[in-house]
Amino acid sequence: MSKLTPADRAGLKSRTRLVHSGRNPAEQFGFVNAPAWRGSTVIAPTVAELRNRNARFVYGTKGTPSTEALETAWSEIAGAAGTCLAPSGLAAIALALTAAVKAGDHLLVSDSAYRPTRNFCDQYLAKMGVETTYYDPQAGVEVEKLFQKNTSAILTEAPGSQSFEMQDVPAIAAVARRHGACVIMDNTWATPLFFPPHERGVDLAIEAGTKYLSGHSDILLGLVSANAEWFPRLRATYDLFAMCPGPEDVFLALRGMRTMELRLREAEKQGLELAHWLAARPEVKTVLHPALPAHPGHAIWKRDFSGSSGLFSIILKPVAQSAVDALLDNLQLFAMGYSWGGYESLIIPFDCSDYRTATQWSPGGPALRLQVGLEDIEDLKADLARGFTAMHAAARP
Ligand SMILES: Cc1ncc(COP(=O)(O)O)c(C=O)c1O
Repeated sequence: MSKLTPADRAGLKSRTRLVHSGRNPAEQFGFVNAPAWRGSTVIAPTVAELRNRNARFVYGTKGTPSTEALETAWSEIAGAAGTCLAPSGLAAIALALTAAVKAGDHLLVSDSAYRPTRNFCDQYLAKMGVETTYYDPQAGVEVEKLFQKNTSAILTEAPGSQSFEMQDVPAIAAVARRHGACVIMDNTWATPLFFPPHERGVDLAIEAGTKYLSGHSDILLGLVSANAEWFPRLRATYDLFAMCPGPEDVFLALRGMRTMELRLREAEKQGLELAHWLAARPEVKTVLHPALPAHPGHAIWKRDFSGSSGLFSIILKPVAQSAVDALLDNLQLFAMGYSWGGYESLIIPFDCSDYRTATQWSPGGPALRLQVGLEDIEDLKADLARGFTAMHAAARP
């Protein structure tokens, strides 16, 4: 079997690349998988090499063969010049933001960003002298009105956390470029398999590897990929913090990568089937899923994305909170939990009204977010039907 070079891999389809990138059996005594390299100390064989700070590996926090394998593979998948890892998705968000802003800067953040992203901006960046303005995720090029002389970065997330608004990322990126601002995107929902971030104008793309890369709800990991312009600054910031993930989590992320596209495509299929089924249910007012033609951001999704994942929300027709609670408490397969992207189905109630500031969240009924897992779809429908029956019983006077 001849060895694949990075140039050979560039011509391959994503599924093949996910299988072959980031491992080299010829250097692993023939074993298929790369081992989890553990270590802090890296021994230099000569004083000349000790002085050569550009050696491939010099210290555990700077990188190991395991972290290099995952970074290289992710860069190939994301179409990036380079990738840095982080111990969680939220740490990756913090890394990208701190690489892009400095004291005295102004930052634009989508009002629909992941809530802990807001906490980082409001509670940490504010303390460090960075001012954040939240913008309507659906503003498109209108966001230009919010740029100031000191605006150094804009954070996008599409679709939005919980509420699933779509953003016109290429249009926003064009505006940001005119103002010399860095375009950051939380691309966790689509992953680079369904939205190639750097091709669409994103400078720094965040992925919570905790979700679909892991796929098994057993690790926390973050990745930030960068284009050629931004990678040196990203890497320099990473080196300052040395916020590196543990070797076992990197190993599991590489393992998850092999099946990521299969799981994601199955999540898409299951998610769409359940979204259509829910749209036809009398209890449901709206389904917030950008791949559904009725979604207000559907045209953008169709233009820029090549797929959808298994996470979406629904708005119920107005019903007492106690009846919604009965629905949730009577489910047997959908468990209540926040992290998503695993093999198991999940559901959570949510309400964005107490923290959004640039837009108003008034959906007209109780909101639920669903993560559709790999269970049989008919069993999942039966589980939700059981929940709706319990909801009706609790709503009766
Ligand atoms: C869109 C999005 N980005 C980032 C994160 C953070 O990932 P982690 O849980 O690894 O910190 C999450 C977690 O739910 C998320 O939903």
